[in-house]
Order: sequence, then C-alpha cells, then structure tokens
Amino acid sequence: MIKEDLRDNLNLINPFLENIIKGAGKNGSAEDIVWDAAAYSLSSGGKRVRPVLTLEFCKMCGGFKEDALHFAAAVEFIHTYSLIHDDLPCMDDDDMRRGRESCHVKFGEAVALLAGDALLTLAFETLSDAPLKCEQIAKAVRVLSRLAGPKGMIGGQSIDIDSENKKLTVEELQKMDLLKTSALIKAACVLGCIAADAGEYEIQAAEIFADNIGLAFQIIDDILDGDEQGEDEKLNKATYVSVLGIEGARALAQEHTETALSALTPFGKRADFLTEFAKVLLERSV
Ligand code: IPE
Ligand code: IPE
Ligand code: MG
Ligand code: MG
Ligand code: MG
Repeated sequence: MIKEDLRDNLNLINPFLENIIKGAGKNGSAEDIVWDAAAYSLSSGGKRVRPVLTLEFCKMCGGFKEDALHFAAAVEFIHTYSLIHDDLPCMDDDDMRRGRESCHVKFGEAVALLAGDALLTLAFETLSDAPLKCEQIAKAVRVLSRLAGPKGMIGGQSIDIDSENKKLTVEELQKMDLLKTSALIKAACVLGCIAADAGEYEIQAAEIFADNIGLAFQIIDDILDGDEQGEDEKLNKATYVSVLGIEGARALAQEHTETALSALTPFGKRADFLTEFAKVLLERSV
C-alpha cells in the first residue's frame, strides 16, 4: 500500500516540478544556463521526502493534496538549492551527488551558485502562486523563510562548518541537526497543515513529528555517508557514527522515530501513510 501511495505522490510532485523548471524562464539567452543547472539538480533522482511530507500532512489534516502542490514544490526547491550550495568547494567540497557530478562540477562554481540562488527565490514565487487564501500564503511564507533561514537550516549549516575538526557531544550534534535537517522537514510538514487550513493543535503535532524524523533522517544520512563516500570523515566532521558507533547511532534513530510516531497517535488511522513512511525512512539505504 505504501508503495502505491508513494508512487501516486511522486506522480503528482514530479510533473509539477518539471513544469515549473522547464516551462519558465528559458528564452535562448545567457541566463538559460542557470535554468539548465537548476533543472539538472532538481531532476537527478532525489527521493522527494519533503514534498511527500507536505502532501501527506495536508491529506491527514483533511485537505486535498492538489492544494498543497505549490507549497510542496517550494520546499523541494529550497532543499535542492541547499544541496547545490552544500557541495560547493567552500562548503563540503563534494564532487558527486546522487551518483552524478555535483552541480558545480558539471556547470562551474559561478553557475552553481546562481542556480542555488535561483531555486531559493523561485521557491517564494511558487508559494505566492498557490491556489489558497492570502492568509494561508502569508503564513507559509513566514514559516518557510524562518525555517530555511539563519534561525533554521542556514543556522545549522553555519554550525556545521564551524564544527569541522572539533569533537561534539550528542547534545551538540542534535542542536545542529535540529536546525540543519529538521528545520526544513518541519517546514514541509507545517506547510502541509497550512494548505489544509489546520489548527494549532495539528501544527504542534507536525512540529514534534518533524523535529524527530529530521534527527533520525540525519543519523541515517551519517551512517550511509560512512558506508559509501566517507565525505564526513574526509572533512573530519563529528557525526553520530563517530560519537556513538553504528549500533548506538541506529538505536538513537529508532528512538527518535518512535517519538515522532507518538505525535501522530491523535490522528488515528489517518496517520497510516505517515507512520509507514517514517519506518521506510529509518530502513532506507539511499
Ligand atoms: C540529503 O537529503 C541532505 C540531508 C539533509 C541529510 P536527502 O537524502 O533527502 O536528499 P535527496 O534529495 O533524496 O537526494
Ligand atoms: C546537508 O547535510 C544538509 C543541508 C544541505 C542543509 P550533509 O552535508 O550531511 O548532506 P549530504 O550528506 O551532503 O547530502
Ligand atoms: Mg554539509
Ligand atoms: Mg554534504
Ligand atoms: Mg551527509
């Protein structure tokens, strides 16, 4: 069941993203390269975890997924920009992303920088085009800008670069990852609630779910990085694996997933997809 629901979600999200990125902007002049670079990174096999969360939170709160598509796309644009910039030589200096050349290797650093900027700004244009009430759009702009900015994801990235060559405690790692990873996941979940015009109670549940799913997600990311490319080790970054060992890290990811799921109990059967999805994310291998 989860596989079919997941496929249905991707069938909504992917064409919507493609339409925006391919349809808009290109006009045979110099800026086309920035569109090409943005499209390259947007369509290179991302799992679409965040937009799936947006659509499913909207549905769980009684809304229509179609109403949440603009919000879902905006979050994926921000996510894609964050990865383009995260890979740059001045950040993680990563030549590969999802088994392909990262954006700056393929297009050069200047174009990659601009493609990231383009996706960041396109995110807010897309939010403002949502077929929803002005109040809902204004709320979404506030939530996304706050959680993607210096009080959210960018704050986490800033702690991350400051942490190279340092030993961190688990508490310090969690503080960093609540910003670096959970914040954008929280935006994804809360925007789904806003698209359904949900109340404070649902939004608070979404926030607890997202904080914990985000932490579990980053722990698994650290474990997989150690398995495959070892970028964190090269940069001498403290990770859950370096601090707790693989088994300890896995146990902590499991614990966070359970806490996340307990936030969904008031939704009863309506939380079935998200419950399954959280478990799939814990078991993921990419
Ligand atoms: C990678 O996120 C960056 C982190 C915050 C850990 P994802 O694993 O969701 O990236 P893609 O889009 O599926 O490649
Ligand atoms: C990236 O974390 C988080 C953001 C881009 C905000 P990582 O640096 O661990 O992500 P990967 O491992 O490169 O995907
Ligand atoms: Mg990084
Ligand atoms: Mg990285
Ligand atoms: Mg990583």
